[in-house]
Amino acid sequence: MKLFLGQEPQSGTPTYLTIGGAHAVLICGKRGSGKSYTMGVLVEELLAGANTDIIPILVDPMGVYHTMAQANQAQQEDLFNWSLSAKGYTVRLLVPGPTEQLYDPEVIDALQQRGVSIVPLQLNPSDLSPDGWCDLFDADINAPLGIVLFRAAQKLQRQNRPFTIQELIVTIERDGRAKDTSKEALLNRLEAARGWQIFAEEGYTPIPELFTPSVVNILDLSRLEPGPRGLRNLTVSIIARNLFRARADARLREEFGLATPLPRVWMLIDEAHQFVPKGQSTLAKDQLIRWAKEGRQPGLSLAVASQQPSAIDPEVLSQCDIILSHKLTSREDVMALNSLSQDYMGGELRTYIRSLNRTGEAVIVNDEMETVQMLRIRPRRSQHGGSSLPPEEENAFDIWQ
Ligand SMILES: Nc1ncnc2c1ncn2[C@@H]1O[C@H](COP(=O)(O)OP(=O)(O)OP(=O)(O)O)[C@@H](O)[C@H]1O
Ligand SMILES: [Mg+2]
Repeated sequence: MKLFLGQEPQSGTPTYLTIGGAHAVLICGKRGSGKSYTMGVLVEELLAGANTDIIPILVDPMGVYHTMAQANQAQQEDLFNWSLSAKGYTVRLLVPGPTEQLYDPEVIDALQQRGVSIVPLQLNPSDLSPDGWCDLFDADINAPLGIVLFRAAQKLQRQNRPFTIQELIVTIERDGRAKDTSKEALLNRLEAARGWQIFAEEGYTPIPELFTPSVVNILDLSRLEPGPRGLRNLTVSIIARNLFRARADARLREEFGLATPLPRVWMLIDEAHQFVPKGQSTLAKDQLIRWAKEGRQPGLSLAVASQQPSAIDPEVLSQCDIILSHKLTSREDVMALNSLSQDYMGGELRTYIRSLNRTGEAVIVNDEMETVQMLRIRPRRSQHGGSSLPPEEENAFDIWQ
């Protein structure tokens, strides 16, 4: 599959990224350098030619990508010069939690008028592993609280059917071996978890069925609590874990020539330092590291975008086989990226980064092809969102000055 990303700035030669199986992609660059725009280009290309064998999922902590439903009218001329046309995409906006409470009804109307379908997303308590439940409440699996919670979640899980938080509460209440104090502490936490309204009280939609191929699936996390143990991380963790399992099963079917119940998935995460930060655990981190490290076999690709590569977990960074770097100015970030340099680059990656000066310019490193190139990113066909802030003033401490 060939993704048309842009052209070489000097020669104007078109730049394609040929992607085979699964990949791990890093998109980085200082504030306002074009990361989110580039991520949008990547999604557009993944959908080119009405591709039905890829499910793109955009993890959107800022709530800005719904504009992909609209054609990029503002850059019509630019697009024409690139022999491209403006185009709005089919967008499914997945909103965890009580949509009507999270969004102003007029905003919902406006989104729907723009053709965005809003899909309320409810997580299933059974989709979180017993370990995951302990992790969520920061309950040590070897301490009384963790032991009781693990036991209850495991007991329900063994029944091989979906369950609710209420059932978890009842199971803990009936646990004859648990102390009252442990029970009470857990019940308080579980009641609080019910209050988040992101877990289903009834009904069950398997996670893989939430996502659709050939459209832009946007996981809108902007209305949820951030933080390493917050609901944004919880949601990503549950989705990543379940898609991994579902794709591993699907892969096995594919090997036997059987119809696949779930096409390959690309998960693209903007502001990725919220989920895979360096030196800090989060609810989603282990799952995402697993995608980066082991996703190749089941066909799970991961793209992470961040202002600061130095703030991204090194285990994820080192797995990235495609790097799209816009201008970076902080020494720490340039060093973090430079540490990913390979022999085939001849020079150091930082010399390439140094020569970038315009928004939308990038260096592209492709490990599989062993190539490094300068790249001018092509204009977006769909509207770019969330760019009301002007790019930051040139940093007085720019190390290239
Ligand atoms: N390839 C491009 N061609 C034309 N304009 C671009 C391009 N890339 C980015 N821009 C413009 O530059 C501005 C900043 O882009 P973008 O929002 O992608 O930056 P960012 O790196 O994601 O910033 P932040 O760190 O704040 O998230 C936007 O107004 C966008 O329209
Ligand atoms: Mg951005």
